[in-house]
Amino acid sequence: MTIWSAVPAVVALSPVSAFADWGVGKSNSKFPQPDLFAPVSTPAHDIETLAWFAITICAGIALIVGGILLYGIIAYRVRRGDDGSEPPQVYGSNPIEFAWTVIPLLIVFVLILTTARTIYSIQGRPRPPGALTVHIIGHQWWWEVRYPSLNITTANEIHVPLSEPSNDNPTFLDLESADVAHSFWVPQLAGKTDVIPNRKNTMWIDPHKAGTYLGQCAEFCGTEHALMLLRVVVEPPAQWQQWVASQQKPAVHEPSAAHGRRVFESTACVNCHTVQGTVASGRFGPDLTHIMSRETIAAGAAVNTPEHLKIWIRDPDLIKPGALMPAMNLNGHDLDDVAGYLASLR
Ligand code: CUA
Repeated sequence: MTIWSAVPAVVALSPVSAFADWGVGKSNSKFPQPDLFAPVSTPAHDIETLAWFAITICAGIALIVGGILLYGIIAYRVRRGDDGSEPPQVYGSNPIEFAWTVIPLLIVFVLILTTARTIYSIQGRPRPPGALTVHIIGHQWWWEVRYPSLNITTANEIHVPLSEPSNDNPTFLDLESADVAHSFWVPQLAGKTDVIPNRKNTMWIDPHKAGTYLGQCAEFCGTEHALMLLRVVVEPPAQWQQWVASQQKPAVHEPSAAHGRRVFESTACVNCHTVQGTVASGRFGPDLTHIMSRETIAAGAAVNTPEHLKIWIRDPDLIKPGALMPAMNLNGHDLDDVAGYLASLR
């Protein structure tokens, strides 16, 4: 038995495979993995075209250099009967030096110019009057999402209307940070844009295919950087309008959840979270007014189910080790009722 044949067994037994994926893992086809080479928005298309151009040039260089190297190794290998003397040496050949200076220089310039053109064509797009603007604020470790013109606040899941060729409908994203540097990246929609404290960066997307697109904070920002996920839900305009209308409704107050609401309002929850129309008006954590309209909780770390909500309130570290939300230490009955209250906030 070689050492390598033991590797699969070690991997299978390692504690990593024992981690629960809270319903959002690769096995869940509802949550497609992001794909750099399947763009659905103009900036991502432009970047893909540029990427293939650069890959083609680099692959050509690799083939030529590797091919010459391989040829040299095979054709000039040591042969029986070699007398061991050195072959003729070439010193100071002007044509050769000129070629290996100018050709790489030209290649680099072509790459610089095509990259600059792509950057300018993406960044130079003017914001048409009336374009939808979404204000996104990076926090450790979640995304605050505000639609200033629509008076909507949500988190981690951004709903935007479809942009069809016949009806160009771009969405502009204004990015800011509440704490450290983050980076907003949804590969199928656009490139990465840094999210920096005390600075507003802007990007735009014009997705032309409905669906849910996954993204990720792309700048190391602390313990849970890896679980600072993004989902962009692209919907046909009529469906998007329905989402807007449902988000603009006041919070549901179900009489059956009244006790849970009282417990929620009497704990520290209200210092960090907002539920419209209640005493809860904190902004340190996500707005919970319509929490059940979101597919996931904890910035994409777990599928949003009443069971996961309860685990999250009881012990956030179980789902997201290092999360800044404290465990609330509620007794079993209060925990059930607070989770029940949250589950009523559709
Ligand atoms: Cu936010 Cu990494």
